[in-house]
Amino acid sequence: MPLHFSQRLLATTAAIGFSALIATSCFAQNQAPTAAEASAFVAKVEQEFTALNEEASRVNWVYATYINHDTQWLVAKISERVTKLAVDFAIEAKKYNGIKVPGDVRRKLDFIKQGITLPAPQDPKLVAELAEVTTRLSSAYSTGKIDFGGKSVPQNETEVLMQTLREPAQLAEVWTKWHAVAKPMKADYARMVEIGNAGARELGYADVGALWRSGYDMTPDEFTAETDRLWGQVKPLYDQLHCHVRAKLNDKYGNEIVPLDQPIRADLLGNMWAQEWGAIDDLAAPKNADPGIDLNKILKAKGYDPIKIVKTGEGFFTSLGFDPLPQTFWERSQILKPRDREVVCHASAWDLDDKDDIRIKMCTQVDAENFQTVHHELGHNFYQRAYKAQPQLFRTGANDGFHEAIGDMIALSITPEYLKQIGLIDTVPDSSKDVGLLMQRAMSGVAFLPFGLLVDKWRWQVFAGQLTPATYNEGWWKLRTQYQGVRPPVARTADDFDPAAKFHIADGTPYMRYFLARILQYQFYKAACDSMGWKGPLHRCSFYGSKEVGAKFKAMLELGASQPWPDALEKFTGSRKMDGSAIVAYFEPLMVYLREQNKSRKCGW
Ligand code: ASP
Ligand code: SER
Ligand code: ZN
Repeated sequence: MPLHFSQRLLATTAAIGFSALIATSCFAQNQAPTAAEASAFVAKVEQEFTALNEEASRVNWVYATYINHDTQWLVAKISERVTKLAVDFAIEAKKYNGIKVPGDVRRKLDFIKQGITLPAPQDPKLVAELAEVTTRLSSAYSTGKIDFGGKSVPQNETEVLMQTLREPAQLAEVWTKWHAVAKPMKADYARMVEIGNAGARELGYADVGALWRSGYDMTPDEFTAETDRLWGQVKPLYDQLHCHVRAKLNDKYGNEIVPLDQPIRADLLGNMWAQEWGAIDDLAAPKNADPGIDLNKILKAKGYDPIKIVKTGEGFFTSLGFDPLPQTFWERSQILKPRDREVVCHASAWDLDDKDDIRIKMCTQVDAENFQTVHHELGHNFYQRAYKAQPQLFRTGANDGFHEAIGDMIALSITPEYLKQIGLIDTVPDSSKDVGLLMQRAMSGVAFLPFGLLVDKWRWQVFAGQLTPATYNEGWWKLRTQYQGVRPPVARTADDFDPAAKFHIADGTPYMRYFLARILQYQFYKAACDSMGWKGPLHRCSFYGSKEVGAKFKAMLELGASQPWPDALEKFTGSRKMDGSAIVAYFEPLMVYLREQNKSRKCGW
């Protein structure tokens, strides 16, 4: 689990004001701590976090790039130390609730209280148990394998099978076998929930879900409502895409496999979790609108290897005026999957020393999805380097959705014009191909939205006790059906534990950030294009090479979390609210096409 002490944002001022009243009366009798003591405490926390963070990051790196008995042992030990220190500090920070301190000190105190993804109670046995349980869950996922076609297939290759197989029986087989890997993880997961919740309560939160939702400059309930509001903005777009893709799958597979009044079978969409459908975009492609930019083919034809893909991603950032990646990035990153050992293949970006030791860890394949993922991960690295001069507790994203959105915003600038500029294609398709272009984008960007939303809706219900181990799986499929309109390819039972077949659930990484990022990336992109005076259709805008956009962007990244996210957002986009209208505007021409296609179809499920 990559570690961040300071992932989260402030509490509400109302809550602080209320505790101030209580605190004042207590401190009147017990000698209130002073503002100077608060500042000294914050300085001590930053110093100790900086040291332990680096040590923990290095241990985690070795584990993630070489999973074995000893690295699991080491990672459990360091996680234990990290959790203990973070929880002790969070509890100590509460002492300063009621006193008047400078704004940046208050903000840091809030981060100390909110910045733990999975707390434990202050009981050494439980701290240790939690570390063991989470390490086991993470390793079970990343070392999971299935038997298929007479071979043992590791986790990352099961993803490739889901992208490339087209025979429904084989897809169902791979899907079912991978989900069977998750089934034995349920007991550990339930224990993790128990210990984490007990820890969250000691810190004063209702449960871990409330702790996670407290990091967005509003109350947990307001944040829930905010995610629902954003979903309401984009749902019509998803519904149209779902209707069209289901009809096309029905053309291909027939009524029995794809009945037109049912949710779509989740294994037919080219992705283990049906979260991004880019692998089957040929199927949804409009007639005579092939933009001729199939990166799966082009990258191979042009002889790209994984390093060249990463260099290309770096080139986009340097074109905006960012410094090149340091030499150590190239020496220390894991870009290829090692042949002879277990690793965590799920892509991530790392900042080992909070200075210049930034890296990515991927099992990169040469295809369109990895091209996109490389840009995504590099976005994290360039963000990390941009805010490195901030004090330790502010070295993180304005909110966690920002962190996930940076590279994705850059990737939107991978237009045909840009591909021509860097020599990947020879001719730029004309505007008659735009619907095809947008369809390709929608199959990943729009298809993802309901999944991005529901993963943590499920976890919020779990942490709140609304779902129990006996109803975990049923609750999961209820949400997947409701939001994504998909159904499992084979019957499920209460013993199955399908949620843990997804990395972020097994690994304990919050997920709402990805939903926010899909909204923010278009908002950032539109703001960048507007600021360049771009007048054409939004999806044709590329800010490659724009030093002006680069400078503005860098100014936002350099802030880290030193200011509330609405301030950072306002500086770059002029708006203080996350807003789905940019993604809706981007896909408007596709929406017209989809409505036309769907007009005599019965949509919904
Ligand atoms: N780390 C990224 C995701 O989980 C990359 C990816 O797998 O696409 O956000
Ligand atoms: N990288 C995230 C995932 O794999 C979001 O796309 O789920
Ligand atoms: Zn990411």
